[in-house]
Amino acid sequence: MVKTMNYEVTLFTGHLAFASTFNAVYIKLVGTKGKSKRTHLLSLEPSFFKGGVSRFNVSCPTSLGKLVLIELDKQIYFFKDSWYPAKAEVKSPEEETYHFPIYQWITDSEVHYFREGRALLIFEDDSNLFGGYSRQQELKQRQKIFHSADCRLTALQTLESLTCLSPRWDVYEKGVPHCIKADSLDSLPYDVHFSVTKTAEMRYTAVTGLLELELIELAECKSSWTRISDISHLLSAHRTQVLDFVQKHWKEDSFFGYQFLNGVNPTLIRCCRALPENFPVTGDMLSLYGQHSLADEMKNGNIFLCDYKLLDGVQSNTIKGKKQYLMAPLILLQKTPDGRLMPIAIQLKQKPAKDNPIFVPTDSETDWLMAKIFVRSADFNFFEVNAHLLRTHLLAEVFTVSVLRNLPMVHPLYKLLIPHTRYTLNINFLARQLLISKTGVLTRFAASGGKGVVTILQKALSSLTYSSLCIPDDIAERGLNDVPNFYYRDDGLKLWEIIHRFVKEILSYYYKTDDDVQKDCELQKWIQDIYEHGFLSQASTGIPQKFTTVAEMVKFVTMVIFTCSAQHSAVNSGQYDFGAWMPNSPVTLQLPPPTKKGKTSEKQMLDTFPSINTTVHGMAVMWLLSKQSSDSVFLGQYPQEHFTEEFPLQKIKYFQEELKNLSAEIKARNESLDLPYTYLDPEMVENSVSI
Ligand code: FE2
Repeated sequence: MVKTMNYEVTLFTGHLAFASTFNAVYIKLVGTKGKSKRTHLLSLEPSFFKGGVSRFNVSCPTSLGKLVLIELDKQIYFFKDSWYPAKAEVKSPEEETYHFPIYQWITDSEVHYFREGRALLIFEDDSNLFGGYSRQQELKQRQKIFHSADCRLTALQTLESLTCLSPRWDVYEKGVPHCIKADSLDSLPYDVHFSVTKTAEMRYTAVTGLLELELIELAECKSSWTRISDISHLLSAHRTQVLDFVQKHWKEDSFFGYQFLNGVNPTLIRCCRALPENFPVTGDMLSLYGQHSLADEMKNGNIFLCDYKLLDGVQSNTIKGKKQYLMAPLILLQKTPDGRLMPIAIQLKQKPAKDNPIFVPTDSETDWLMAKIFVRSADFNFFEVNAHLLRTHLLAEVFTVSVLRNLPMVHPLYKLLIPHTRYTLNINFLARQLLISKTGVLTRFAASGGKGVVTILQKALSSLTYSSLCIPDDIAERGLNDVPNFYYRDDGLKLWEIIHRFVKEILSYYYKTDDDVQKDCELQKWIQDIYEHGFLSQASTGIPQKFTTVAEMVKFVTMVIFTCSAQHSAVNSGQYDFGAWMPNSPVTLQLPPPTKKGKTSEKQMLDTFPSINTTVHGMAVMWLLSKQSSDSVFLGQYPQEHFTEEFPLQKIKYFQEELKNLSAEIKARNESLDLPYTYLDPEMVENSVSI
């Protein structure tokens, strides 16, 4: 009797809608001593159904040695379908269990290769001995998956003819980070699409937002507001604790100052040691808090500046034939002896002039309030395009595309970063199509809509620095280490430290020396692609062009994870909270700012506000962009088990514990606050830019 070696194969199908297949699945096991036959996985039990676990035996005449790879293919049996295998486990006759992460849709009938879970760098990988598989071949196959979804691909094109292609870069506009080449949402592969659940919940249209907020009947109402109290009727469908607070306190100086620290845009404020030349504030104009002079207060680090110079010269929108107004203000703030941050002077345009007064809190109530309203509207446009779109969404897309182009699944950095890229290509495609395209909502209703958005993106990218993306450096450079009640900084720095520790432990396990970093050509291609296509080869940004040391790589990868998770949450999740009460965040303004003091009135303020339909469209966008999906994955949760080794799994557990402790700490702190700061609570932070 011939003795056979039996391998027990367990295949897990993912828990996603339409993940099941009714077709025939074949497997080949590849080990260091040989390969099994391609084996049809047949069972009397129903197999390969959504969320299911299917078990089979594969027999071989001799031992295959250490298992290194499985080959899977799916052939049409009944009708064409797609299958989402999550992972495979194989128990060898030597009683060893091997894990194979998959987490990919198989839509065709080609052979797909999946490596055993141990992460390997290119120079320690002998996969070229495995016959049909090589790391390079895997990247080519990924390129093919991207392109086979592209409708321009013909059946005559072979894998070889596609080798010059890749998940390709595209230029959205000159001077803006490059994006994924995709002519339609369907031209992106299933693997980067929203789930069916998310698609259903995030019907991402302006109409959806209006319907959900019960504002659809106002969508065409072009009248101006006649009473400020009428605006509160818009909030009846969805109120939040923060929104209630905003509505109550939006006129107050201390809340105006608070928002530069803990609102949706904590990225602009900086300590002011010397006034900019174009902001000629003098001490005698001001009523400072406390006994010190302006010069002394600046010397003591108690004066702060918000300078929207990036908006200077940006062409403002024309909505329904009516010119809109977007200022580039300068705001001076003082840290008071009781720890508040109070605005003390506002100049709405960059160039000092007689018709560009410097407003102060002792001006008439409506003058001062109007000045603050112009600042808040400028802040909405600055924050949405720069802090949110550019510095989180577009950068996250660059990091994602570079992962897909350069790192095979077995690379430790692929395993570490792929969870932080979830849904990013899908949401950014939608953002380009539905927000900033010719018919997009921002184009139609925001002051910066149209040409303005592109100008802001170009100016912001050309002045972006690597240090401003790394929160410890950013806070220090802006001189904000000692500002009280700065929860974005407090929570953000703690999160950075936790992420940094995690990344360092994981990557130092795989890269033992700086030399390992230097000789990893896949890693070097990853950062080169980011430098070239994300930061357009601008050395002045300080973005690394290559990695020389483990420490450099760890810092950059920390920044990538922080940007995709924490930073996006900080600038994204509070949009409805802070913006739904329109006077606190007008998306545009319909009249120019006052050029003289003492001429404003409440009527003028109401006429300056966006019209009713613009207001409700703005609210609908903020609502959609702040919504959380029921299939969100939060920071540090890795339902896809790309790492299978003991060491990284232990580190993931420790990372999760640290995040849990921070979450408890933030919740305890928030209990004593009038306005809790929740956006960097790890339980609220998603792993990736997905909305
Ligand atoms: Fe977002």
